Amino acid sequence: MSKPMQFHPLEFNPKTGEPFLRLPAPHENIIITPPRMSDAPAVVSNMADPAIYTFLEGPPFPYLPEHADQWLTKIKNGTDAAFEVLKRANEEKPDEPPILLEEPPVRTIREIREDGSELFLGDILFVRERYPDIDDKEVKKTLAQPNADRTLGDPDIVWCIGDYLASSHHGKGIMTAAIRTFIRDWAVPRMGARRIRVETFADNIGSRRVFEKLGFTYEKTVPVQKILNSGRTVDGMDILWWKAE
Ligand SMILES: CC(C)(COP(=O)(O)OP(=O)(O)OC[C@H]1O[C@@H](n2cnc3c(N)ncnc32)[C@H](O)[C@@H]1OP(=O)(O)O)[C@@H](O)C(=O)NCCC(=O)NCCS
Repeated sequence: MSKPMQFHPLEFNPKTGEPFLRLPAPHENIIITPPRMSDAPAVVSNMADPAIYTFLEGPPFPYLPEHADQWLTKIKNGTDAAFEVLKRANEEKPDEPPILLEEPPVRTIREIREDGSELFLGDILFVRERYPDIDDKEVKKTLAQPNADRTLGDPDIVWCIGDYLASSHHGKGIMTAAIRTFIRDWAVPRMGARRIRVETFADNIGSRRVFEKLGFTYEKTVPVQKILNSGRTVDGMDILWWKAE
């Protein structure tokens, strides 16, 4: 049987058939998988945690079970669709070089515990940059629209990352390792990513540190004011860039 090139470098859960990426040592018990609807209670509890919601712009507040169901349905549609594209490519062109995808088939960070059960730890969002730090709608559009219109594989596409991790697991190097694995094993080879721009709230020292550890360079702090759904006012967003060598 030929090697399934189109799935490279995904591994598969032998029981469920779910694809996953595994982090290298010392985090080999952490995997990145598709989301599951059963993640909803864990998502709700993470979104009620000030160590998390304080630093996120998008999520509703208070975050209700139906918000988790809506979000999981949406992101699961994305990863399911990506996996279908891969399966079709594997049937139609199994021996050709791996195709590029617009969306990843995996994004949910999980810990495999000693008893074999899996703990939901967090999420990695990887999408084309939409410039949330720019308030002026026209200026935003002049950057975001051409970025959205570029053909997949164009090295000038600017990608963006959003992420969070359960606070029980903060400070152990997990997000740095997870994003490193995601960029190296998936975003670069399978999405064609060459440029990534991230924004972190100016007081989010931990997130900025994660990106700096990954080789992102600080560009500037944008003096934008954001009022989060939680009511918190954020002053300033740090912009950092990563470019493939
Ligand atoms: C940001 C976040 C993803 C980091 O995950 P993590 O697994 O704890 O990150 P890591 O352990 O890989 O690295 C965190 C780094 O920040 C440092 N750090 C964290 N908080 C810090 C603080 N208040 N002051 C100084 N350094 C801090 C840690 O010491 C570590 O750096 P080090 O390895 O040099 O010691 C996690 O804290 C989180 O989910 N926060 C809430 C959501 C969020 O901010 N998402 C990102 C939005 S842009």
